[in-house]
This record gives sequence, structure tokens and C-alpha cells, in this order.
Amino acid sequence: MIDFRFLCPTEIIFGKGAELKVGEETKKHANRVLLHYGGGHIKKSGLYDQVTDSLKKAGVEYIELPGVKPNPRLSLVRKGIRLCREHGLNFILAVGGGSVIDSAKAIALGAVDDGDVWDFYGGLREATAALPVGVVLTIPAAGSESSTGSVITNEETADKRAYDNELLRPRFALMNPELTYSLPAYQTACGASDIMAHIMERYFTRVQHVDLTDRLCEATLKTVIRNTPIVLETPEDYDARAEIMWAGSIAHNGLLGTGRIGDWASHMIEHELSAINDVAHGAGLAIIFPAWMRYVYKQDVSRFAQFAVRVWNIEMDFFDPEKTALAGIEAIKTFYKSIGLPTSLGEIGITPTHYERIATNCRRTSGDRVGSFMPLNSDDIINILKLAK
Ligand code: NZQ
Ligand code: ZN
Repeated sequence: MIDFRFLCPTEIIFGKGAELKVGEETKKHANRVLLHYGGGHIKKSGLYDQVTDSLKKAGVEYIELPGVKPNPRLSLVRKGIRLCREHGLNFILAVGGGSVIDSAKAIALGAVDDGDVWDFYGGLREATAALPVGVVLTIPAAGSESSTGSVITNEETADKRAYDNELLRPRFALMNPELTYSLPAYQTACGASDIMAHIMERYFTRVQHVDLTDRLCEATLKTVIRNTPIVLETPEDYDARAEIMWAGSIAHNGLLGTGRIGDWASHMIEHELSAINDVAHGAGLAIIFPAWMRYVYKQDVSRFAQFAVRVWNIEMDFFDPEKTALAGIEAIKTFYKSIGLPTSLGEIGITPTHYERIATNCRRTSGDRVGSFMPLNSDDIINILKLAK
């Protein structure tokens, strides 16, 4: 295990009716806020009325900025920054999923900075301040409700970039699993895939003696694998929705990566897919992750065999551990298919003509080598894309 520091100060308020506390929770931090949301599902579901009523009751003034699209865009971030400055807003309230939260975080950075907010995402500067952000979460997936990350797409250059900073952890996250009943099956599945990916990026490490976090990762993975088919069958199963929602935060708040070095190559590659054709992040990951596994498993066959045995209940073949490892990789692919996710690049319109560009862009953001379990060069990335074809 390697040395680490871990602090996750986001206050999680979890359970039925959690969203009704938004006024009082926001009031603890600010009284003039930017209310940020997406394409309108919150109006259809009635959540918008509940949130605005609660803010009014608490005496919190708000200016609205709707219109966040999945794979949130830089132009809307810039608009949010202008609104914060014009109206003297001192808090961003995100109501929605990872895209809304990430956009809120970017606005929070830009509102207190004199330069261009894209500098942070381009790796040119580190932020030293940010407005506080609060969250009402409507989809368990990105884990942005308690993570340090924000991922934004610059639509002018078709670049999708992440920025990580402790300043970006939201002050609070209100999480009512009932709010996720309205999710379309495909979004539920994409969310499950992203949660699993956040765990696996940490699980596949070369660091030795990480028994505790191995077990935490395996338990969180098994929880998602068990409960996703249940909610796809019965969308209003509160307990199963609750398990997945909590798993989504645990998967990405940093706890599961303590004492380990994560890989993140699959995420880097996926961000390029989303930048090219606006695919849902979780769908892109369902395609890339099994291909990455097939490409790298020989680096540590026993870790992949452990994954197969402990997560997928595959019987260990002591004479042929490689067979066990490969069975685990097959099992995850079958699982993704069973929950309605794509498993090949062709299904999402990515063709071999895109491969070179994906490889180049990945290396531009991550340096010479991408990932750490097996540091990848351009040829490796292209070979993984070929396996995902
Ligand atoms: O726009 P609205 O109306 O809100 O609809 C959304 C959107 O169309 C809909 N939705 C959300 N909750 C719903 C609902 N529809 C019905 N009922 C509900 N309860 O779902 C669609 C997808 O929403 P989005 O916010 O895009 O999903 P997700 O949470 O998966 O976020 C994806 C984004 O997060 C980034 C991804 O790259 C992607 O841009 N990530 C952020 C991370 C972070 N900040 O730490 C880490 C992740 O690895 C990831 O990269
Ligand atoms: Zn992700």
C-alpha cells in the first residue's frame, strides 16, 4: 500500500425527501445562488417546483441557468460565469447528473478567476479558489456529487477535458433514490457502467498489498452488478435504487483508491469517443473497458483471475489461471450486453478512420504514456480500439 491523504468533506444527505432540504442546506452557505440544471426532466418530474419552493421558503434568491447537455459544453459554462458576476451570485446549486454538476463546478472556478476557465482543463494553470457548489442528484453515475473532478467539452475544438481539484468537492449532496425512478433504462445502464468503471480503474493497479481496498472495490462492484438488473426490471424498487445510488458516490469519492495507483486509461480513451460523437460516457466505457482488459491482462494474470473469481463467481482454474482471467473479461462483456449497452465501437459510429486521432488526443492530455497498469503508447491505444471494433 502506498501513502495517502484522504478527506472527503461533502455532506451526504441520503433518503426519501432529501431534496426538500435544499433551501435550508443552501442557506447555510449563501443567499444568492445560480440554479443550474439540464434539459428539463426536472420540470416534468416536479423536482424543479420542489427545489424552487424550498429555496424561496428559506429566503434564498436565485438566478436560473438551464440547458446543460450531456457532455456539458464550455459555452454554457462561460454564460454561467457571466451571470454569477453580473448578479453577484456566491453559490452554484446543481440539480441533475454529472453533466450539470460538472458544468456547475466549472462555473464555480471561472466566477472567481480573472483568466480563461479553459486554462484549468487544458492543464495550463491550477485553480486557487472556487465558489461553493451544492447538489441535488438525479442519476447515480459520474460520482461528481462528491468527487474532485469536472469534465467539460469545448465544442469549438471538439475537446473533452477533465480537471481535478479538491476545491471542486461539493459542499453537500442531497440524494433521494426515488428521484432516479424516472431514469430511462438506457441511462440507468450507462450509469451502472460508469460506476463500475470508476471502481475498476482503481482495482486494476500494480500496487501490492491492497487487500482492504480490493475487498471494498469487489463489494461495491457486486452491489452494482446485483442491483442493476433489478431496477431495470422494476424501476421503482427503492432499495435497489438506493444501493446503486450510494455505490455511485462510494465508487468515485476517492475512498476505494486510497493506498493504490489507479489506471484511468479507459476513461481517457472514452472521453475522446464522447468528444467525437457525443456518446453517453457510460456507453463508451462499456465498449472500451473489456477491450482494455483483453489487451493488458497478461501484465498481472492473477489480479484478473481474482477479479473473475471474487466479482463474477467464476471457479478458479489453478492449472490455467489465464483461462479464469479471460472468463472474467467475458463475463463483464456479457453483463454489459444484458443491460442493453453497446459493446463495439461500430455500434456508436466510431470507425477505424477515428483511431489515430483518438490515440493522439489521449496522449496529448495524458503525456507520453496513458494509464499506469500498463502504460500505453499510440500503437497500444490503436490496438485496444481494434479489439473494441
Ligand atoms: O438534462 P436532463 O433533463 O437533466 O436529463 C438528463 C440527461 O439527458 C437525464 N436524467 C438525469 N437524471 C434523470 C434523467 N432523466 C430522467 N430522470 C432522471 N432522474 O440523463 C441524461 C444524462 O445525464 P448526465 O448528467 O449527462 O449523466 P451522468 O451523470 O452520467 O454524467 C455524465 C457526465 O459526467 C462526466 C462524463 O464524462 C459526462 O460528461 N464525468 C464526470 C466525472 C466527475 N466529475 O467526477 C467522472 C466521470 O468519469 C465522468 O467522466
Ligand atoms: Zn466515469
